[in-house]
Amino acid sequence: MEKIVLLTGAGISAESGLGTFRDEGGLWAQHRIEDVATPEGFARDPSLVHRFYNARRVQAAQAAPNAAHHALARLEAACAGEVLIVTQNVDGLHEAAGSRNVLHMHGTLAGALCGACDHRWPAPMEMSPQDCCPKCTTPATRPDVVWFGEMPYHMDEIWTHLEEADIFVAIGTSGQVYPAAAFGQHAGRAGAHTIELNLEASVNVHDFTDMRQGLASVIVPAWVDEVLRR
Ligand code: APR
Repeated sequence: MEKIVLLTGAGISAESGLGTFRDEGGLWAQHRIEDVATPEGFARDPSLVHRFYNARRVQAAQAAPNAAHHALARLEAACAGEVLIVTQNVDGLHEAAGSRNVLHMHGTLAGALCGACDHRWPAPMEMSPQDCCPKCTTPATRPDVVWFGEMPYHMDEIWTHLEEADIFVAIGTSGQVYPAAAFGQHAGRAGAHTIELNLEASVNVHDFTDMRQGLASVIVPAWVDEVLRR
């Protein structure tokens, strides 16, 4: 049975109105990574970090999946083999489009995490440093997102999926953040056919056997049609 593993990044949600990180005017041009996306930044100013993620949670809740998310859900539903999405995105747009086999390696805006006891629960739309963990009652509530300097989720499982993949596709990711940036090379060495679908070539485009350039809403549905026609 054919196995398709897809890695998605901020580019797949750009046409849903969610800003990417490193494109011109992107999130990292407006905010300092060390202030809002590191454990040290959270320890220094938890209110600032909560405000940043509260705003992103509201934006994500108002966004709708675009043709690229819908095409991947269609692929999962119609493909005879296995389709797995590994996403770096913390929005819920893959699930909103109907994808079910999704691993959130950088966590999710929909989740809250207790920094004291690791308990997880559904995040309210607005979080604050005064919020207490429903389990241990410590006011150490944080968004369940992976910050720089922290280990992404599901990594053992993800490396194994990459080794089992017949096709590996990276969509809308700049290839600047590890370990996701190494997935193309890892899957390719293990024998997968590797494809990049992106607006601009990523820094590791040479790790891929095939590259298609364009808007995700155009090139992802076109690629899915091709796979389903075979
Ligand atoms: N269609 C396809 N690709 C697009 C589109 C679009 N409409 N718009 C932008 N892109 C591409 C850009 O060319 C770029 O390659 O999406 C990519 C976005 O790159 P980044 O902003 O670096 O986002 P990403 O790769 O997902 O970032 C990885 O960095 O800070 C962290 O944790 C954060 O998960 C994130 C990680």
